[in-house]
Amino acid sequence: MKIFLDTANLKSIRMYNDMGLLDGITTNPTLLSKEGGDPHKTMEEICSIIKGDVSLEVVSTEYSGMLDEGRRLRKYGNNVVVKCPMTADGLKACKSLTAEGIPVNVTLVFSANQAVLAAKAGAKYISPFIGRLDDIGQDGMGLIREIHQIFQNYKFKTQILVASIRHPVHVVDAAKIGADVVTLPPDVLGKMLKHPLTDIGLKNFLADWEKLKAEDPNIRI
Ligand code: G3P
Repeated sequence: MKIFLDTANLKSIRMYNDMGLLDGITTNPTLLSKEGGDPHKTMEEICSIIKGDVSLEVVSTEYSGMLDEGRRLRKYGNNVVVKCPMTADGLKACKSLTAEGIPVNVTLVFSANQAVLAAKAGAKYISPFIGRLDDIGQDGMGLIREIHQIFQNYKFKTQILVASIRHPVHVVDAAKIGADVVTLPPDVLGKMLKHPLTDIGLKNFLADWEKLKAEDPNIRI
């Protein structure tokens, strides 16, 4: 399973990239606006830090605008994947950009039927937003299970990029299903790192080492 970070925060991107954890990044207008500053500079910087796929989203809602924006976004790097919304124009733009060799991530997917249509239009990734489905009392992870089964039945190459992840249990469940990618808010990735027994274990190891040092102050590893 690939891990993407769902953020435009350069500090978090650098931190987790330095640990070797990141296979890619996803951004959207909301995440860019949260960081403030010049979004173009931010997108350029992200593409230079990260070797893997970086999803950058169009804001036009009609076909030709999406094509123009997609082509411009791709100039930030060969790792740019253009994010188009799951609309009729978005699918048309997906088909055209894909034909030009520009990969597309179809975003705002909320049903298995939408996922099938995006795959037919040639999307490299589809992004089902599971947390937002959970929020309205629907089964987000159930949708991932459904899409995974359908894509397997027909050997679709489109990758399932699980988005709108809210907690580490979502990550384990997505991995058990066999989803291709999870895109994680930095705080969820931070929580995955932690376990209280790791902290207690480390504290005890260090305390025991101090006992050895009390006997021989020159002792060292
Ligand atoms: O990648 C999509 C994600 O940013 C949406 O997450 O938490 O706003 O539903 P959320």
